[in-house]
Amino acid sequence: MPHLSSETTFLKKVHQKLGAIPLTTSLLLNFLRLSSVTPSHTNKMADDPWQRAYDFAVQVARKAGAEIRKAGESEIRVMTKSSTVDLVTKTDERVEKIIIGSLKEEFGEGTHCFIGEESVAKGEPCILTDKPTWIIDPVDGTTNFVHGFPFVAVSIAFAVNKELEFGVIYSCLEDKMYKARKGKGAFCDEEQIQVSDVKDINKSIIISEHGTDRTKEKVTKIFSTMQKILCIPVHGLRGSGTAATNMCLVATGAVEAFFEIGIHCWDIAAGAVIVKEAGGILLDVDGGPFDLMSRRMVSANNDIIANRIIKEIEIFPAVRDDAPIQKK
Ligand code: IPD
Repeated sequence: MPHLSSETTFLKKVHQKLGAIPLTTSLLLNFLRLSSVTPSHTNKMADDPWQRAYDFAVQVARKAGAEIRKAGESEIRVMTKSSTVDLVTKTDERVEKIIIGSLKEEFGEGTHCFIGEESVAKGEPCILTDKPTWIIDPVDGTTNFVHGFPFVAVSIAFAVNKELEFGVIYSCLEDKMYKARKGKGAFCDEEQIQVSDVKDINKSIIISEHGTDRTKEKVTKIFSTMQKILCIPVHGLRGSGTAATNMCLVATGAVEAFFEIGIHCWDIAAGAVIVKEAGGILLDVDGGPFDLMSRRMVSANNDIIANRIIKEIEIFPAVRDDAPIQKK
């Protein structure tokens, strides 16, 4: 694997750029409290088979977030994946191992399947079957992490029979735990969250990202779409640099929609449950049904906003996450 080395002290940069976020007492307490994950066999609910998995996912996400913060205190070795701007660090790899290791220890080896960003990068399959499957992005916002841009999230989703049962997103620098279970509402920490009720696109804020593909044709389409949406006009365009956090911003009503072509299932699986449970909707960029493996998604507070955006999106091809691996 090619690697370039860029060294930076992440937390120092975050401290410089955003005085409000540095390790507060509550962050420190959470880190101390959760520096080890305790088994939760006692949480079983007979009528609710996945409650234990859900509760455990929250614990694991918090533990992973503490690891990310700790890693940010030392130098970060940066490597690249599909292109020179598709970054990965030892922290991404280590945190994914911690998450999958903790889940295997809790639920037993071989009982569940795993789709993890860094495992797939190393050649593991990215196929969603009917088996209970964890879909994991250990560090969503790796570029942010490397540069000290203060939005980094751990994203953990769980699907059974190809249906998403729950999603957990821990925005670890803000110390915000977003979570949702199918049919049970969405929460930020213990507070229930809801999408905005704005129906007028002229009163909306829309998020999009430009991803890691710098092919001129794609970049032109991405910016042309953004220009058209900006000139509808909307109140503003934004982007946090993490798809998971972007979806939480839709779920809390801070923005009306987030769309992207080129994202992966691990970037959006947990967010998909959170947006839906917060009262929002998910669609394909052509207005058809949302398909987790398609690498195309519009998430919005309602169908009026979603369909208005869809009218402006210039679609470009993206190879599905579950496409057969091309031999080189
Ligand atoms: C990236 C982020 C980014 C999105 C990219 C993703 P990563 O995930 O979610 O917001 O625009 O498409 O690849 O690589 O930081 O896990």
